[in-house]
Amino acid sequence: MGTPGTSGKRPDKYIHQLKERAKVESDVFDRRTLLHVSKLIKKRILANLDYPVSTGKESIVFKATAPSGAALAVKIYKITTSIFSRKGDYIKGDPRFEKIKWNEKDVVYAFAKKEFKNLELCEQAGVRAPTPIILEGNAVVMGFLGGEKLPYPKLIQTICEERQLNMVLEDVKKLYAAGLVHADLSEYNILVANDGTTYMIDWGQGVPLAHPKALEFLERDVRNVLSYFKKFGVGMDFEEALAYVKSK
Ligand SMILES: Nc1ncnc2c1ncn2[C@@H]1O[C@H](COP(=O)(O)OP(=O)(O)O)[C@@H](O)[C@H]1O
Ligand SMILES: [Mg+2]
Repeated sequence: MGTPGTSGKRPDKYIHQLKERAKVESDVFDRRTLLHVSKLIKKRILANLDYPVSTGKESIVFKATAPSGAALAVKIYKITTSIFSRKGDYIKGDPRFEKIKWNEKDVVYAFAKKEFKNLELCEQAGVRAPTPIILEGNAVVMGFLGGEKLPYPKLIQTICEERQLNMVLEDVKKLYAAGLVHADLSEYNILVANDGTTYMIDWGQGVPLAHPKALEFLERDVRNVLSYFKKFGVGMDFEEALAYVKSK
């Protein structure tokens, strides 16, 4: 049955979509964020913000298109207080961010900056991660890891093999040698390409070795990865893996 004024669209679904869109817009697109996105378009980094691929507590990730047609990912950190209380420790102990002002906006911008700087370090160290493109306020622009439409599946959505564990540990080792620890490594923050190559994502929490808890985070990362692979019968002793990632 048609409803007047909706041109035959299913009204409930339509209203739901509008509400969802309004929610997304008010969640992420405060006035400042809109300015950053429009700057990215003016600078000809972005031609289009295509659609959201993920909505998290602290950020939204969009698939986007560059003027060249290249696929990009834009991670926009939401200006909220939650990141403050949940993840403040990752900023506090990081010497790169000693001087930031301790308010909502500056902490959120610091996380975006931290993610971008960590992506740059990954690129220099040859660690498989998204290619950093540009940082604009609370928006991190990076290469899109995925096919035509969807991002590559997360490790948790795939059947794991020993090859993947070796790739991940190899990257953790390169990272350690470069003086960085991911600090939030798990089956949710590793994407697996069609050819089985692993990529670590979600670098906002990554800390340099100078952070007082860096080694604790490194051990947690290694433990998380090993215990996930164990479910697939792919095992390695924790001490052995830790010694490997710390070896020269
Ligand atoms: N560079 C990227 N390319 C493709 N998809 C991405 C990229 N970065 C993030 N994503 C997608 O967005 C999701 C959330 O990103 P992530 O950085 O893990 O943020 P958070 O976990 O803090 O919400 C990922 O699981 C992945 O599906
Ligand atoms: Mg994540």
